[in-house]
Amino acid sequence: MRRKLAAGNWKMNGTTAALSELEALARAHPSPSIDVLICPPATLLHRAAEAARGTEISVGGQNCHAATSGAHTGDISADMLVDAGANAVILGHSERREDHGEQNEDVRAKARVAMDAGLKAIICVGESLEQREAANTLDIIGGQLSGSIPDQSTGENLIVAYEPIWAIGTGKVPTLNEIGEVHDFIRARLERRFGEGVGRSVRLLYGGSVKPSNAKDIFDVSNVDGALVGGASLKAQDFSGIIDALQKA
Ligand code: PGA
Repeated sequence: MRRKLAAGNWKMNGTTAALSELEALARAHPSPSIDVLICPPATLLHRAAEAARGTEISVGGQNCHAATSGAHTGDISADMLVDAGANAVILGHSERREDHGEQNEDVRAKARVAMDAGLKAIICVGESLEQREAANTLDIIGGQLSGSIPDQSTGENLIVAYEPIWAIGTGKVPTLNEIGEVHDFIRARLERRFGEGVGRSVRLLYGGSVKPSNAKDIFDVSNVDGALVGGASLKAQDFSGIIDALQKA
C-alpha cells in the first residue's frame, strides 16, 4: 500500500509570520492517516522544522544544488537541507525549469545527490498547453521521466509529481480522465524501468490548482496518491480541506 501524501509548496512566499499557518495545520491534524509535508522557502526551513517538531508534519526544500558543496554562491546543498531539518526536496518544478533553465539531466543530478543525502526527491514533470494541444503530452512526460529520474530510485526515495504547466496557479485543471491517463502512463513507465515492485511503490502526486473543492474528485482517480499544492497550501484552513479529502480517499 502506498501511503498518501499531501505536500505543500510555499514557493517564494512566507516570512516568520507564516509559521503560524504550519502550527495551525499541526493542531488541526494531530494524527493524520496520511503523510503531510510543507516545503517553505529556504529561509524558513530550519524554523519550520522546529515548529513541526513533535507533530506529524515534515518539512522539505524546494530545490538543491547538484554538487555536495563548493563555490556556488547563493545555492543550497542537499546536506544543508537535511541539516536544516528537511526530509524531502522538490526538484525540477516547472518554475525552476523555466526561470533557471533546468534541464532533465540537471534534475537527475540533483535527485542523485538528494537521494544520497537521505532525502526523498519529489521530481516534477508536466507539459505546456502547446504540447498538450499538439497531443504531445505523453511523449513529453516520457522524456522527462527517463531524463530526470536517477537509476537509484526506490519507492522510498522517489515521489513523482505530475504538474501540467498550464494548470499551475491558473485555476484550470485537466479533466479527471486526462489526469488518470497521465498517472497510469507514469505508473507503467516506472514499472517497466524499475520492475513491478519498485514501480508500484512510488507515490504519484497530482499538482496544479488543487483546492479543497476539487480535491476529492482528483483523489478518486486511480494512481493519484496525493497532491503537490501551491497556492492552497499557504493557508492552514485551505490545506486542511485538502488533507481531509485525501484522508477520506
Ligand atoms: P498551485 O501550484 O497549486 O498554486 O497551482 C502547484 C505547484 O506549482 O506545485
